[in-house]
Amino acid sequence: MEKSVIVKAKGLEKIYGIGRSALRVLKGISFEIGKGEAISIVGPSGAGKSTLLNLIGCLDAFQAGSLAVMGREIANLSVEDLSGFRNRHVGFVFQFHNLLPEFTALENAMIPLMIRRVKRKEARQRALHLLERFNLAERAHHKPSELSGGECQRVAVARAIIGNPDLLLADEPTGNLDSANSLMLTDMLLSLGRDEGTTVVIVTHDRDIATRTGKTITLIDGKIEE
Ligand SMILES: Nc1ncnc2c1ncn2[C@@H]1O[C@H](COP(=O)(O)OP(=O)(O)O)[C@@H](O)[C@H]1O
Ligand SMILES: [Mg+2]
Repeated sequence: MEKSVIVKAKGLEKIYGIGRSALRVLKGISFEIGKGEAISIVGPSGAGKSTLLNLIGCLDAFQAGSLAVMGREIANLSVEDLSGFRNRHVGFVFQFHNLLPEFTALENAMIPLMIRRVKRKEARQRALHLLERFNLAERAHHKPSELSGGECQRVAVARAIIGNPDLLLADEPTGNLDSANSLMLTDMLLSLGRDEGTTVVIVTHDRDIATRTGKTITLIDGKIEE
């Protein structure tokens, strides 16, 4: 049986701004990502990697072409539908963890479930379970400012996967970590893909990470290099 496609992009274009200041960042790119695949997106700074990841994660609009995620045409979804879709299907890990500073690790990890109106007790249990799995049980009640960079990123991964997303997207998630933490985090992300069938897309300029994913998309000046 043919592997099912989870992301399908055709002639995708992203333009920032309008008129004379318009900047065409993605210049008509086409690709497919299969369910359960692990993919890295590489390319020089400014090539459009984050822009592409944000589109795949339904965080931003595009100007031409088509993008289907899990068979849904993203351009056709309303703003409300999009945020619901993201909450159910997409987990995002950023370079700078983006945890909420006034909340503890546990509370940060619970957020996607609270948005889904899962009961607090259940959300708490699931978050605790994940924090334990990521060796963070002792840090559950600490705020991000009291955690190391590696610990914050692990909390960010817990938050990204607590809702069992189909797509786990990470934008230079190890950009701020030393090599030991970087390796640990990458292994975590990739093992989630293997164990749970989650599709994992990692933007990175770290060659070691790129060689660990099954497939690589190289983006140069807004185009995919074959
Ligand atoms: N919100 C924005 N408004 C205008 N230009 C942007 C915006 N975001 C990114 N850009 C520009 O788009 C290009 C690609 O950016 P980005 O996708 O962040 O590249 P990468 O992640 O590969 O470094 C850059 O020239 C950047 O300055
Ligand atoms: Mg970027």
